[in-house]
Amino acid sequence: MYKTSKYTPADKMSYLICDNYTLLQVMSRFDLSLGFGDKTVQEVCRENGVDCRTFLAVVNFMIEDSDRMEDDVKDISMPSLMSYLKQAHHYFLDFCLPTIRRKLIEAIDCSTENEVAFLILKFFDQYAGEVRKHMDYEDVNVFTYVENLMTGRETGGFRISQFARRHDQIDATLTELKNIIIKYYPAKGNNHLLNAVLFDIFSCEQDLASHCRVEDYLFVPAVRRLEKEGK
Ligand SMILES: [Fe+2]
Ligand SMILES: [Fe+2]
Repeated sequence: MYKTSKYTPADKMSYLICDNYTLLQVMSRFDLSLGFGDKTVQEVCRENGVDCRTFLAVVNFMIEDSDRMEDDVKDISMPSLMSYLKQAHHYFLDFCLPTIRRKLIEAIDCSTENEVAFLILKFFDQYAGEVRKHMDYEDVNVFTYVENLMTGRETGGFRISQFARRHDQIDATLTELKNIIIKYYPAKGNNHLLNAVLFDIFSCEQDLASHCRVEDYLFVPAVRRLEKEGK
């Protein structure tokens, strides 16, 4: 089943993380904590009640360049995948974006008539608002729809294709913010703080892009499967 995938259930969890530290984010969104010693992926998942196939489907999808993971879709546990996506939303909205905002205020000079600093914060707040709207819609409408679909309740005629058509890339505006800072912020002297927040923005941008890819290429096809089975 995992022949074409990079990581397998028998790999040590520590190997995965040391091989690709961005997978730390995936682990914590599956509610897996550190301190697993030499245990394998399968052992760590089993002990924590996490669906190992779903965990590996996400992990292997994230490290792939290609956007096709049709084979893994059938192995996905929808409750596990949705809980993973919800945790990711919680992370972006309640930790990642507020941290970037705090660091931005610390790094840019908001005291005087610094128009660019003011614009950067305004732009950031608008952006964070858009991300919240995007994720709230998924939490409230899309996930509720899938839960209803799974339990055979009324779904109000909604189909996942309606969501897939309008699912926009929320990382694009962050790219603009990054460009404003890089191109126009009149930095003077020591830029350690500003560089640190730029690093955070770059990494949040990548994280958001891969979150959207998981939704488009794992979540949506898995919901389509459920819709077909329900017919
Ligand atoms: Fe999302
Ligand atoms: Fe999304």
